[in-house]
Amino acid sequence: MYRDRIRNKELHDRIVSAEEAALLIRDGMTIGMSGFTRAGEAKAVPLALAARAKREPLKITLMTGASLGNDLDKTLAEAHVLARRLPFQSDPGLRKAINAGEVMFIDQHLSETVELLRTHQIPEVDIAIVEAVAITETGGIIPTTSVGNSASFAILAPKVIVEINLSQPLLLEGLHDIYIPTKRPHREPIPVIAPESRVGLPYIHIPPERIAAIVITEKLDSSAKVSPPDEGTRAIAGHLIDFLGHEVKKGRMGSDLRPLQAGIGSVANAVLHGLIASPFHDLKMYSEVLQDSTFDLFDAGKLVFASGSSITLSAEKYREVMPNIGDYKQRLLLRPQEISNHPEVVRRLGVLCINTAIEFDIYGNVNSTHIGGTQMMNGIGGSGDFARNGYLSIFVTKSIAKEGKISSVVPMVSHVDHTEHDVDILITEQGLADLRGLAPRERAALIIANCAHPLYRDRLADYYKRALARGGHTPHVIEEALSWHMALSERGTMLPG
Ligand code: COA
Repeated sequence: MYRDRIRNKELHDRIVSAEEAALLIRDGMTIGMSGFTRAGEAKAVPLALAARAKREPLKITLMTGASLGNDLDKTLAEAHVLARRLPFQSDPGLRKAINAGEVMFIDQHLSETVELLRTHQIPEVDIAIVEAVAITETGGIIPTTSVGNSASFAILAPKVIVEINLSQPLLLEGLHDIYIPTKRPHREPIPVIAPESRVGLPYIHIPPERIAAIVITEKLDSSAKVSPPDEGTRAIAGHLIDFLGHEVKKGRMGSDLRPLQAGIGSVANAVLHGLIASPFHDLKMYSEVLQDSTFDLFDAGKLVFASGSSITLSAEKYREVMPNIGDYKQRLLLRPQEISNHPEVVRRLGVLCINTAIEFDIYGNVNSTHIGGTQMMNGIGGSGDFARNGYLSIFVTKSIAKEGKISSVVPMVSHVDHTEHDVDILITEQGLADLRGLAPRERAALIIANCAHPLYRDRLADYYKRALARGGHTPHVIEEALSWHMALSERGTMLPG
């Protein structure tokens, strides 16, 4: 059966076991591997590598598209294989190793990794490992449920290991659009002028002789761990929909809105879900991760096209969608993350960007990555690519975390990922703050009144009043600005003792 998937017959003699393929990887190498938000990662060779690391010293730099499924990051971290990891992860085990200083994690804008690679600004990829549904007659690699950075890894690496995954449906063929920007100087504009623009090849084109090994696997992608919408996320979705309705009424956009991007996680998924019951229609997505909500919007007749870099579904949705992926194929495209997140394209299309904050401050600075200013959660992912360049940059979060012990609206964020300059709209279940055209003093009053939880609202207002007395363009009681985080670290709560 797998021989039908390797259509270039000359490659049949490269089929080896995962263990044999892993022997190509040597201590100190840089590996570029497929995988984006738990979709389409190479599944067998990394496990063989982790097993080998128990017998001999083996440390690598691992680059991927984004996070990996099948507990691979955990397994690799526990086997102490990872010296460096970039550009994103979301695994609790790896998170622990990163925060212990054991793994050097480079938290990077997802559109930038391959630009840095091809201009030799970061260590070059020695071996690429790419999951594929098939290899064409000419040696073209057809990715599976994600494209991520796979194309550039394969193009740039001297050796490529392909994992043919028999459990990934061949129906995925034709879904991918592989376009690589031309070289600088004199780079051509990226010809994507709409989410549905098809501008590249449906496979990764490399000379077949660079395919050093082929491994056959059957492991499924891991399912997404997304909590269903709850009262809080439904309220956030409600505020967003009211706001978008207002924008339509003002004539700033039509009822098909703008191409939508929504970040990872339960909150963003629930917010998109909320659009099912909205008055908007003929929606399009220009996003990076396509989650359950994308297919729910298709099935509800609300969405007409979705462009992304990966498909990451819950177990239930996966069973429903994957056997019928052919029915969606005309309405879907998977691109390299460099293109799905490209500042040029995001700005050209005027993308409506919805991402999740861990916390934001009274002036609109957003922290999406660090708990208490020091502990890495997941990473910035693509949120910066979109927030900086979108038509509207919206951040959502619940106003409190951990049963109210933490306020997500704080005097000063403990770490900044998205500065006040890149943030237009903030939404919690309490309400929405439209920051467009407002000075810091105007923003603070609005954010406190509209977004803060009643448990913390008066304390924020009191802080701001005392800050105002000190003056300044962005008033602060500077010695007190991080006191809420200090209380959290010392007493486990931001609530007064
Ligand atoms: N302080 C401390 N912890 C907080 C917090 C805060 N202010 N706000 C949320 N949390 C905790 C939650 O309690 C939860 O903890 P748990 O895992 O122990 O239950 C965890 O953070 C996740 O929060 P949740 O409310 O479930 O939201 P989510 O699943 O939507 O994830 C982010 C939120 C911010 C962590 C996630 O969206 C992310 O990593 N974003 C950055 C990358 C990104 O935006 N990519 C977008 C392009 S793909």
